[in-house]
Amino acid sequence: MALRTIRTEGDPVLGKICKPVKDITPRISQLIDDMLDTMYDAGGVGLAAPQVGVLRRIAVVDVSEEGTEPVILINPEVIEQEGEQTGEEGCLSVPGVAGKVTRPEAVKVRSLDKNLNEVIYEAEGLKARAFCHEIDHLDGKLYTRLVEGELHEVTYEEEEEEE
Ligand code: NI
Repeated sequence: MALRTIRTEGDPVLGKICKPVKDITPRISQLIDDMLDTMYDAGGVGLAAPQVGVLRRIAVVDVSEEGTEPVILINPEVIEQEGEQTGEEGCLSVPGVAGKVTRPEAVKVRSLDKNLNEVIYEAEGLKARAFCHEIDHLDGKLYTRLVEGELHEVTYEEEEEEE
């Protein structure tokens, strides 16, 4: 398990447009594994490559309660969207705060998988929100620009250590 440092708001890398992935090199495979480890370690439901300082169009998402259903997005694009949902959103790169953001209720995302095969994901609710949030990161956009009203502080309870 290898953890990478999560960049935080103010780091210029978070404002840049990421480049498409053309080959799955050993370096890219390692990056994806590290992104999953880093996301789970931080207790997030999504992480995009620029958040660990790499300007590539890669993101990982896992909104399952057990954290066992990772989706790996490579060169993802929203190709359809429907409806609207307004709810709380946060970001590992903007620690300690959250805010209200409106996103599509459902999206269809075209992506590549780890073998560079095309996959279409249909998502709704939290998963749709996470897909939109992560894809925005690949275009250098943070959710904070979409917040309605004010950001507010959030405190996470420390997870109990398992014995
Ligand atoms: Ni984020």
